[in-house]
Amino acid sequence: MNADGERLQKVLARLGFGSRRVCEELIAEGRVTVNGDVAVLGRRVDVDGDDVAVDGAPVGIRPDLVHYLLNKPTGVITTADDPQGRPTVVEIVPSEPRVFPVGRLDADTEGLLLLTNDGDMTHRLTHPSFGVEKEYLASVEGTPSRAAIRQLREGVELDDGPTAKARVTAVDDSLLRITIHEGRNRQVRRMCEAVGHPVTRLVRTRIGPIVDRRLKPGEWRALSRDEVRSLEIAVGGQSDQRYDRHP
Ligand code: URA
Repeated sequence: MNADGERLQKVLARLGFGSRRVCEELIAEGRVTVNGDVAVLGRRVDVDGDDVAVDGAPVGIRPDLVHYLLNKPTGVITTADDPQGRPTVVEIVPSEPRVFPVGRLDADTEGLLLLTNDGDMTHRLTHPSFGVEKEYLASVEGTPSRAAIRQLREGVELDDGPTAKARVTAVDDSLLRITIHEGRNRQVRRMCEAVGHPVTRLVRTRIGPIVDRRLKPGEWRALSRDEVRSLEIAVGGQSDQRYDRHP
């Protein structure tokens, strides 16, 4: 047991599980685990190394990590530093602590983008083996036929290989909702182009469990603890170095 760490009930209280007293009860009821073992009262934890879960759900305990959700407007570049001096997504959110975008949206794509200093979360969200869903609304030229939609669903041949199965529904004549779990460069645009319906406007509307219909282009907010937790669950556990589960 780590004698130098922070008291578990204090960490849980800071994360919003209730007063320290309530958190002590959670521990006493056996609902809290540390590194997979049921925690006992008096337990201390290392916020950088230990895995804490409440009722089996992993809890991110590092206080230094920030997670922002941005509704990226068009014309803003998804990079930490643009040599050509164009506006970048990191300029929209607080500069301290330094954060990085999770994956990228094209300059002309709008919608939800995560920015964080949580490198492990970034890795998990962007690595195809974790298969986190990304949902887009794509306005396209013309009206895709049923066959075109079926082709998008089943996979289209792109110059870097066929795409995986996707969920595709027609919202309107020229508006498709497309859900993919890969993250290839300009993938949605290339998929639509491949079936003869180039994209005229592309908006990302969901990243795994994260949605926000009220955030306007150019606005950002911090993710709630529940949202961070839901992302951690979506990528298979609390952010740490357990890459071994997904080689
Ligand atoms: N697919 C694209 O074509 N562009 C994006 O920005 C994201 C997904």
